[in-house]
Amino acid sequence: MRQTSKAPLLYQLRFNLKYLLPLILQGTFKRKPFWSSFFARHHGDPMGVEFERRLRARCHSSHIWMRMLTKKSLFVYSEESIERILTLSPAVYAEPGSKRRGMGYFMPGAVTISRGREWAERRRLNENALSLSQNPRLTRWAERAVHHALERRPVSLEPMLRWVWFERVFQDIALDVIFGPPGRNGSAVSHDLRVLMLKANRFVFLRKGKRFRRFFAGLEALLLKADEESLAGVIRREEVTGRTRAVQQIPHWLFAIQDTLAENVMRAMALIAVQAECADRVREHGRGAGEDDGRFVEGCLQEAMRLYPTTPLLVREVVGSDVLGDSVVGSGDQVVIPSMMLHRNRALAENPDRFDPDRWRRRPRDFRFNHLSNGTQDCPGKALALFIGRTFLAEMFGGYAVQLVRPTLDASQPPPGALDVFTMAFRASASEPTETERKTQ
Ligand code: HEM
Repeated sequence: MRQTSKAPLLYQLRFNLKYLLPLILQGTFKRKPFWSSFFARHHGDPMGVEFERRLRARCHSSHIWMRMLTKKSLFVYSEESIERILTLSPAVYAEPGSKRRGMGYFMPGAVTISRGREWAERRRLNENALSLSQNPRLTRWAERAVHHALERRPVSLEPMLRWVWFERVFQDIALDVIFGPPGRNGSAVSHDLRVLMLKANRFVFLRKGKRFRRFFAGLEALLLKADEESLAGVIRREEVTGRTRAVQQIPHWLFAIQDTLAENVMRAMALIAVQAECADRVREHGRGAGEDDGRFVEGCLQEAMRLYPTTPLLVREVVGSDVLGDSVVGSGDQVVIPSMMLHRNRALAENPDRFDPDRWRRRPRDFRFNHLSNGTQDCPGKALALFIGRTFLAEMFGGYAVQLVRPTLDASQPPPGALDVFTMAFRASASEPTETERKTQ
C-alpha cells in the first residue's frame, strides 16, 4: 500500500459539501439544535464512515491530501502518524487559524489556542487545577456538585428528561465545581458564554463588544469569591505570571462541563438504558453493590464518546516541517485526524461498531481513539469529566428505572450513525431491584 496520495477532485468536493458543510452548519463551538437534528435524521452517512471506506479503497494509502475548504490538508489514517502528531503538539502541530479566530472570540488567552512558553505555562496551570491525584478533595467536591444539582432540579418533577433539563443540570454542576457555592448564582455568566460561542460559530466578523466585557467581568467577580476547594480556588492559590492569564482558562472548563460533558453523558445514558446487562451493572455500582469500582461506568461514557466524538475532526497547523509516513509536511499545511471516520474503522479496531465498555479496561490509553485526544496536548480535564459523568450516571441508574423513550434503539443492532441529543427523551421512574439484589433478598 502506498503511504501518501492525493484524493481525486470529486472526493474532495464530496468531503467539503457532504461532510464539512454539515459540521459547520451544526456549529463548531456551540451546537445548533435545528441543524443537528436535521442531519441526524436525513444524513445517510453522518460520521463519514462509508466515505472513508471508499476513499481509502480508491487511494490505497494511509495519508491522503485533500483541500479542506481552501486549505491544503493531509488526512491521516495511520496510528503511527496520529501518535506522532499528538506527541509533537503544539510544538510542531499547533492550533489552526480557524480555531484561533473562533475560540479567540470568547477566550483569547486559553491554553488550547496558545503556543510556546505561553502554552507550557497555561498547560501547567490547567493540569495543576484539574488533576484528581493532585487535588484529592476534588472528587468529594464534584460528588457534592452532582447531588446538589439533582436536588435543585428533581427528576421526579420532570415527566420526561430532555436536553433542556440536562443542560441546566450540567450548568449547575459546572458552576459549582468551578466556583463552589458562590457559582450557584452564576447562570448569567453561563448564558453569556453560550451566546459568545454561538457567534463564534461563524468565524468571521467577530468584534468583541459589551457582552465579552460583561462575561469576563462576571468571571473575575466569581473567581474572587470562589471557594478554596473549588477549581477556581486552586488557580487562585497558584503562582501565576502575566503570561498565564488564569481567568482566561475558565471558559474552557465551563463549556466542557455544561455542554460537552452533558451531551456525552446523555448519549451514554441512552446506550446504557437499552442494554439490560449494562444497565444492571451501572445500577449495581450506583447502589454500592456489584464488583465495579467505577471503571465500567467510565467505560460506558468512553464508548459513547468514541462512537459519537464531539470533536469530530482534530485539526492542526504545521509549524516548521516534519515527515508523516512518506509525506513531507511544511509550514502552514494542515493535518487532520478524522476521528468521526476513524473510530468506526474496521481495519483499525476490532468490533468498532459494538458498544463495549470493557474495551477501556483492556486498553485504557489508545491513540486510535481521540475523543479526549492523546499525547502532550490531550484533555487535561479527562479524569474530572469521567468522574463527574460516572457519578451522574450512577445516581441516575442507582436511583431510577431509566427508560429511553426517543429515539428507538435496537440493542441487537450497531448504534446508529448519529444520536441526536436535542430530540432525545428519557423517562425515569421509581427503581426496581437489580438481579443481584433479587437473588440476595
Ligand atoms: C466529555 C467531556 C470532554 C471531552 C469530550 C473533551 C475533549 C477534549 C479534546 C478532544 C481536546 C483536544 C482538542 C484539540 O486538540 O483540538 C480537549 C482539550 C482540552 N480540554 Fe477537554 N474534553 C472534555 C472535558 C473537559 C473538562 C471537564 C475540562 C476542564 C474542566 C476540559 C479541559 C480541556 C482543556 C483545557 C483542553 C486544552 C488542552 C491543551 O490545549 O493543552 N475538558 N478536550
